[in-house]
Amino acid sequence: MNIFAIESSMDETATAVVADGQKILASTVASSKEFHKKTRGVVPEVAARKQLEFMIPVVDQTLSEARLTSQKVDAVAVTTGPGMIGSLLVGVETAKTLAFVWEKPLIPTNHLLGHLYASWLNSNPPDFPLVALIVSGGHTLLLLVRDHGVIEVLGETQDDAAGEAFDKVGTLLGIDYPAGPEIDQLSKKGDPSTFDFPRPLITSGDLNFSFSGLKVAVLRQVKDKKIDKKDRTNLAASFQQAAVDVLVKKTLTAARDRKVRNIVVSGGVAANSQLRETFKNKCDLLGYDLFTPPVKLCTDNAAVIAAAAYFNQTPAAIFKVTADPNLRLV
Ligand code: KG4
Ligand code: ZN
Repeated sequence: MNIFAIESSMDETATAVVADGQKILASTVASSKEFHKKTRGVVPEVAARKQLEFMIPVVDQTLSEARLTSQKVDAVAVTTGPGMIGSLLVGVETAKTLAFVWEKPLIPTNHLLGHLYASWLNSNPPDFPLVALIVSGGHTLLLLVRDHGVIEVLGETQDDAAGEAFDKVGTLLGIDYPAGPEIDQLSKKGDPSTFDFPRPLITSGDLNFSFSGLKVAVLRQVKDKKIDKKDRTNLAASFQQAAVDVLVKKTLTAARDRKVRNIVVSGGVAANSQLRETFKNKCDLLGYDLFTPPVKLCTDNAAVIAAAAYFNQTPAAIFKVTADPNLRLV
């Protein structure tokens, strides 16, 4: 079954065709990131306008790369939320139009479910039950997934998402949006023990997260001070170490308490090299099976939306499909 999927929840305009939820036939991602550098974050109106500009070329590109005509597409899937309303609307209206014109079923799909299903885009997907850490610019969630569509939220952030903390700390260090990749690189040159930043909620006894206190702790160190190159790398490394410590600790606690062997780590922040390495070392040591998708499937793309749609097939009448910026996972 070939699913043509559209993802447009924020600043990426993405389309893909995936066969049977596992094989990517084509995947195209256009990003308006460079237009958000100056504003140090995404301005929703700017992102929505770029979605409009990029959408049709990105649809065309994927269809020609997959060498598919619409007859060979079996269903259309689209991210209906969560995300920014203006951006979501462009993808949703495009998907509704294509499904109508091509006379194919339309599968509305949750963006966060997409991040989870990045681990199914290969020939060795995880087994159930599993614990999943979804860490992105907008969300930080710990899930217990017993089967396709059987999901329990074990914990979530009480304030900022982990990626948001990377981006805001990046602003403090003079790094353009999105700051995660550069903090990742800077940290490799820094000493993580220089600043003893808090590990918020690490001993809270629950599985929730909090990142705003960590961000404020970094702010206190840089406020009214002259920061040289060495300080910058040490601040980045110390902040990253604190964030990684909390994310890893809570995920392993969830897996231990729920007696689950399989751990999935996904979403934009799962591209972080220290987070990936720490999870790998700990999981090897403790005997967990770890699933971290390749970096390009961790950040926003439409192939993961097609995979999520395939394994949770819930087509809806076209006129009922709407964008919902606050769409919940469960
Ligand atoms: O999943 P994603 O592409 O978009 C959302 O759904 O939010 O995640 C984007 C987030 C941004 O906050 C970005 O700074 C962060 O992922 N990110 C990283 C890395 N690459 C992207 N954070 C830390 N280390 C990275 N290597
Ligand atoms: Zn995302």
